[in-house]
Amino acid sequence: MTAESLLAAARASRMRAYAPYSGFAVGAALLTEEGAVITGSNIENASYGLTVCAERNALQTAVHTGHRNFKMIALAADCSPPPVPCGACRQVIWELAGDIEVVAGNLQGEMIRSKLSLLLPQPFGAAAWGENPVTDEEAAAGADNWRVSVLFHPLGYVSSDYDSPQSLPDNYKELLSRVIIDPDFEEGLYRLDEEDRINVISYLHRAKNYTLKDRRSGRGNEVYGVFACRAPLRPNAIAQSTVELVEIDKNILTVRGLDLINGTPVLDIKTVYPLK
Ligand code: THU
Repeated sequence: MTAESLLAAARASRMRAYAPYSGFAVGAALLTEEGAVITGSNIENASYGLTVCAERNALQTAVHTGHRNFKMIALAADCSPPPVPCGACRQVIWELAGDIEVVAGNLQGEMIRSKLSLLLPQPFGAAAWGENPVTDEEAAAGADNWRVSVLFHPLGYVSSDYDSPQSLPDNYKELLSRVIIDPDFEEGLYRLDEEDRINVISYLHRAKNYTLKDRRSGRGNEVYGVFACRAPLRPNAIAQSTVELVEIDKNILTVRGLDLINGTPVLDIKTVYPLK
């Protein structure tokens, strides 16, 4: 079978496209080593990301119907220059068909031909990983392990009268706020009521764009490093607030002196460890 006739099959398959969202119908035709032609078209979805391209539709149909050896894939659409497979399809063609010939054509008779390896240089495939699981020693001792992102699950949140950083009143040290802990973590508050003061560790969810050096209003507007002050615009936007513990009612802590706005996620509650 010639590239031209495979392309004719792709053009015909285009008629079966389901493309109400993009209005861009694509047809594909796959030629097996044995000479069979398996076709596909793009099938879209109202949840756009679930759309399947014509090439993947043809490949999956082919594998499902027992074909594993492929020679060529053709695709056709009404565009100039003719359509080439998207990145995702190139990866899937590589996995299932290897370095086959790719033929793209349009309704005006233009045609592009290329080996897949030219469209997908340095392809990723199963051979790349082989038998290389991460060992326990590697996981424990890797010098760069500290660079891996850390994900926290908030314990609860602050319920206070201040909705924005600007609305925190000057006398906040005298005012009451509440810390609402997820009932799943309530057991962890056992005997916390023996403390007069606690540390509330939180994530300053409204803080954007940190600065490493800034002027400190509490010290005559002199410049300090971010780690030499309590400024909210810090690389990890973590806050530590030492407050007076007024009352605990089940999972709700009433505290005095919390400098956090309403809705601030709370990451941890800790006792205050005296230095002397
Ligand atoms: N599409 C294909 O079917 N094959 C390609 O190679 C490129 C894109 C489809 C997916 C979607 O339905 C529409 O074209 C617009 O992206």
